[in-house]
Amino acid sequence: MKGMLATRRPLGRSAVTVCRIALGCGNFGGIGSAPEFFGQGLSEDQAVELMDAAWERGITHFDTADAYGGGRSEVWIGRWIRSRGVRPQLTTKTYNPMQARADRGLRPERIARQLRMSLERLGVEHVELYLAHEFDPQVPLPESFGAFDQAQAEGTIRAYGVSNFDAPQLAAALAAGEPQAIQNSYSLLARQDSRELLALCAERDVGYLAFSPLAGGWLTGKYRRGEPFPAGSRMTQRPGPYQGFVAGQTFDALDRLQAIASSRDTSMAGLALAWLLADARVTQIVIGPGRPEHLAIAGEALERPLTDKERIAVEGALAAGAGRGTERGTDTEAKR
Ligand SMILES: NC(=O)c1ccc[n+]([C@@H]2O[C@H](COP(=O)([O-])OP(=O)(O)OC[C@H]3O[C@@H](n4cnc5c(N)ncnc54)[C@H](OP(=O)(O)O)[C@@H]3O)[C@@H](O)[C@H]2O)c1
Repeated sequence: MKGMLATRRPLGRSAVTVCRIALGCGNFGGIGSAPEFFGQGLSEDQAVELMDAAWERGITHFDTADAYGGGRSEVWIGRWIRSRGVRPQLTTKTYNPMQARADRGLRPERIARQLRMSLERLGVEHVELYLAHEFDPQVPLPESFGAFDQAQAEGTIRAYGVSNFDAPQLAAALAAGEPQAIQNSYSLLARQDSRELLALCAERDVGYLAFSPLAGGWLTGKYRRGEPFPAGSRMTQRPGPYQGFVAGQTFDALDRLQAIASSRDTSMAGLALAWLLADARVTQIVIGPGRPEHLAIAGEALERPLTDKERIAVEGALAAGAGRGTERGTDTEAKR
């Protein structure tokens, strides 16, 4: 797995290159950016165990945000970096409030302040990628991008981009500045970007980073028709964003995916990741393991790439179940 992860790809038109799989740290000290879950999610000890295991396997890019766990995610990554004496590549983001009722958004002064605080928490002088975590209808994009341009010129960020933007919003962003990447929810069960947005990325050379590649755990097969959700699983903690998946159509699609996985002797989750890796338009996938054993599927996906025939079969099997869940994952601060 290490050798395969060492293969890097250019991030859009930026000077940054990234590996295909990044460790998502959205569950460190919370569940995404929702203040009502700050202090929950993984503990610092669990996060350290996960970062050690990921690093050991060759996953050297970590994805976080200022508001993940109300700042805990960045603080714990920073402590881990100092204690281990290593430097992963880092993506961080801003938009969401750091606590209930705190300010939010993409005003230039806020961006400058939030970036300064992120660098402080992480204990680094720059991050490789800085993202606008959401579209902000209150602030003209050129103003926000002005702050990103300035940070890039000062060397505190190497590349910038956007997240949770749809195709018209990305087109507007490309007219307003030079975003080099976009991070959106994309998986076999959430394929809203598959046509317009991914085509725009390919055409304008924007790096595409897929988050929630397992649709919040649904593509592992852990949720079963007519059975209670497993204790401690995301559906028992923060079901809101995934409620649309609780439908017979999804379970039917997952049954078909399981049959394909069994026929090639791989896990359903490994197959779902392999499907994303097989798409040349997807620059990187951001996985969200809950514990070290969950990392095994990344190795499986890299070591067992899909043939074209398998890719078509997988897409056909999931066609009817796709698109019922969230487009935004767990990062919005409001409960759904
Ligand atoms: N830009 C954004 O707005 C945005 C939004 C969401 C996420 N993200 C980023 O993307 C990362 C990944 O997102 P995600 O957590 O939604 O990804 P995901 O991989 O779709 O879902 C992760 C969940 O799936 C389950 N899981 C993962 N690997 C498993 C395995 N091998 N076996 C069984 N269950 C497994 C775990 O669920 P249980 O907890 O139930 O065990 C875990 O919490 C986040 O950490 C964050 O860095 C960004």
